Amino acid sequence: MEPLDVALIGCGTVGSGVAQILLEHPERITARAGRPIRLARVVVKDPTKPRPNCVPSSIVTTDLRKVLDDPAIHVAVEVVGGVDWARRAVLDLLAAGKDVVTANKALLALHGAEVFDAGRRHKKAVAFEASVGGGIPIIGALSHGLAANQILSLQGILNGTCNFILTGMTENGTSYAAALAEAQKRGYAEANPTLDVDGTDAAHKLAILAQIAFGANVPFSAITRRGIAGIHQNDIRYAKELGYTIKLLAEAWLDRDPKATDNGGGQLALHVSPVMLRHLTPLAQVRDAYNAVFVLGDAVGSTLYYGRGAGQMPTASAVVADLIDLAAGRAQRTFEALRLWSGKSNGITLKPTSEVPSRFYLRLMVEDKPGVLAEVARILANHEISISSVIQHEGVESPEGDIVPLIIMTHTARTGNFTSTIAEFDRLESVTAPSVYYPVGD
Ligand code: NDP
Ligand code: HSE
Repeated sequence: MEPLDVALIGCGTVGSGVAQILLEHPERITARAGRPIRLARVVVKDPTKPRPNCVPSSIVTTDLRKVLDDPAIHVAVEVVGGVDWARRAVLDLLAAGKDVVTANKALLALHGAEVFDAGRRHKKAVAFEASVGGGIPIIGALSHGLAANQILSLQGILNGTCNFILTGMTENGTSYAAALAEAQKRGYAEANPTLDVDGTDAAHKLAILAQIAFGANVPFSAITRRGIAGIHQNDIRYAKELGYTIKLLAEAWLDRDPKATDNGGGQLALHVSPVMLRHLTPLAQVRDAYNAVFVLGDAVGSTLYYGRGAGQMPTASAVVADLIDLAAGRAQRTFEALRLWSGKSNGITLKPTSEVPSRFYLRLMVEDKPGVLAEVARILANHEISISSVIQHEGVESPEGDIVPLIIMTHTARTGNFTSTIAEFDRLESVTAPSVYYPVGD
């Protein structure tokens, strides 16, 4: 059995996990791949950093050319991260005749078309199971298991760091900063954690899922996103009181005439945002760095995928699965058949966020004086938004009037209508801006 020689480009959190699985479980890997997978080279930036004990120092280098120029190496695993260096490396590796496995969602979301084109041109495969959902095989599920379906919607908790932070803030009252520091310590966060907390990482993953599930050629910049950095303990408390949990969700909804043909186009709504979910719904129950993706297909109905969405070994599990698929010759066929990012339009266009219908949670900080509630209700009514419930807790009596939170849940409204009320509220003298709002996902 001829071994498959593999190079690891990057040996940090994920790369070290990949090296450990390959070097510590050779029998298991050989049995599943049909031949041994041999770690032939490891490329890093800083040669003096300690690596896992199982990695022989003789194969560690800082020179990518040692991989590009070695004809015995057939596959490279890119687990470096970032976009510019990784993009150049992946394009050079494909041009040098290597199949590529990558966990780099930023690279695929921003340069998927270029990377996949290069793969097709050089007749090499790009496998990327680790790029979404960590250890959850969601790419395989959408590409293979659900291939008979038109996907109608998907909703995912796709960022482990954000879910870890929100769980800590909700269940233990942990501060945002302390929870983020712990997520970084555990290896969940990106090298630049702003990408996690501002919703960019989840949007990168949503762009990849939208490509596989809907074949939608949506520019990454068109995906609207809001992160978790502004979420206040007060909103978490009010959400609880109302029977909801706040989660960062990535959502895709296909709006298409049910009688349309398979290539019948349609409008796809895509967004990443904190969303209030009812306590007992499955996604509200997903805790810590776990991820989950709820997928609705026209034949299968509802399906749910759940598992550890970030961290060393879950992500390494997905990378090694891709290596096994490449060694067995399956990944090449999948890559060819899927024709992802091929630029061919299937008529699906992006639905403007302003047209998406939703219920909303709204927190206004208002002066506790006569007429304020009536004014707020009038503005909502002027925008044809109906109130579903209101909370204002009794405050301390004071002659000047106090600033108090006024919590409003609305019935379904067009997002554009709702956000224009926010601008109006924030201009009122009786309201302390900025007002806070989140969609409600019942
Ligand atoms: P790390 O920062 O832990 O590791 C990055 C590795 O790349 C390090 O070994 C670093 O070398 C090496 N590297 C950086 N720049 C260069 C360069 N110019 N030349 C050669 N090597 C370089 O990142 P992670 O392992 O956390 O993430 C890797 C990828 O996996 C990213 O795309 C990330 O988004 C993705 N990912 C991460 C997950 C996680 O939970 N951490 C989960 C899913 C995906 P050195 O060690 O010498 O500094
Ligand atoms: N930083 C990412 C997260 C890693 O927290 O989900 C997994 O892609």
